[in-house]
Amino acid sequence: MDYRLIDLPSHNDERGGLVALEAWSEWVPFEIKRVYYLFATAQGVERGFHAHRKLQQLCICVSGSCDFVLDNGQSRETVHLNSPLKGLRIGNSVWREMKNFTPDCVILVIASEHYDEADYIRDYQKYLSEINHI
Ligand code: TYD
Repeated sequence: MDYRLIDLPSHNDERGGLVALEAWSEWVPFEIKRVYYLFATAQGVERGFHAHRKLQQLCICVSGSCDFVLDNGQSRETVHLNSPLKGLRIGNSVWREMKNFTPDCVILVIASEHYDEADYIRDYQKYLSEINHI
């Protein structure tokens, strides 16, 4: 499946932690065109339920925890994110669902493209038919 859970470079010292990420690096192998974050997710809410045609993303759980369910049309895997030192890189064609957000969960997303609704595949049956034609 086109995702990777990676260790992020940290500059921790006695003062605390610091992670710096740059475009076209080992951790972010694309131009950064957009950054957004999910926070204050209401209890029991599930988000995502889409794939992309082009977008590459790096997702970092900078606070709290949540689960990413990733699906390539053939299998499904759940990745638990609970550390600001881990990044989840998700390829465009992976269907993603996010659930089990803790109240303090903040997901920072670094994205390769500007927001474009036309890049989204939000219907799972359409997703299956699109990836089977790739
Ligand atoms: P949505 O795609 O529904 O989020 P999720 O996939 O996590 O459920 O996005 C919620 C709203 O935010 C929707 O109106 C589109 C808007 N939005 C932007 O304007 N820019 C962005 O970069 C993103 C991710 C969403």
